[in-house]
Amino acid sequence: MLQRMNIPKNIFNKIYNLFWLHFKHVVYGKKLRIEGRILLQGRGKIEIGENVTIYSHYAINPIGGDRTVFQVMNGAALKIGNHVAMSHAIISAHNTVIIEDEVMLGAGCKIFDTDFHSLDYEERVHGQDQDVNTAPVIIKKGAFIGTQAMILKGVIIGEKSIVGAGAVVTKNIPDGEVWAGNPARCIKKFRDVGRQN
Ligand SMILES: CC(C)(COP(=O)(O)OP(=O)(O)OC[C@H]1O[C@@H](n2cnc3c(N)ncnc32)[C@H](O)[C@@H]1OP(=O)(O)O)[C@@H](O)C(=O)NCCC(=O)NCCS
Repeated sequence: MLQRMNIPKNIFNKIYNLFWLHFKHVVYGKKLRIEGRILLQGRGKIEIGENVTIYSHYAINPIGGDRTVFQVMNGAALKIGNHVAMSHAIISAHNTVIIEDEVMLGAGCKIFDTDFHSLDYEERVHGQDQDVNTAPVIIKKGAFIGTQAMILKGVIIGEKSIVGAGAVVTKNIPDGEVWAGNPARCIKKFRDVGRQN
């Protein structure tokens, strides 16, 4: 009962989400389901496929995080495939983020294709902070990202691969592997964890 009371009324959420999806010119497919209120920032291009489920309220999935945020800056792109599900994911695209079909993003995970700030002290502190490293992030088909994991710029997560809870991923993960820890390392390959097809 308490959980139900915490969830803002559905109809207002629908109106809110539809307004922002259209205001931000988001292209989306059939059966987009958003529970709670999504936060869309920036003027970049967002494409969402079919049968995508987005949880965006802590009471809907209390494991971690609060709202799902798509921050897609001017000139950047976020592309989400079909049958993708996510809870309270924070995705920041200053370049390109691609999430392929059948990907699951665990509660409160973060995907950043940028360092946000220059690594050069003068530029960062006394300059315009313009010289910022960015590189595309690709999460391939069927991958599963654990809760509170962080995927950093330039990383490709392989098909059906799994990222453990709380991992910080700084390097590419090949197809069919389980990576965990900070920095994330391979802890298993699919032949070790049973049936994967
Ligand atoms: C990564 C994961 C899938 C591995 O599960 P598993 O195959 O059962 O792994 P095991 O428990 O056999 O652990 C294997 C090794 O990896 C380590 N490990 C497992 N998960 C880890 C994690 N998240 N971070 C760091 N190390 C981890 C274990 O300590 C163990 O180390 P050891 O060999 O030195 O003893 C699981 O631990 C995990 O993080 N699941 C994510 C759950 C989640 O976030 N769901 C989404 C909710 S919205």
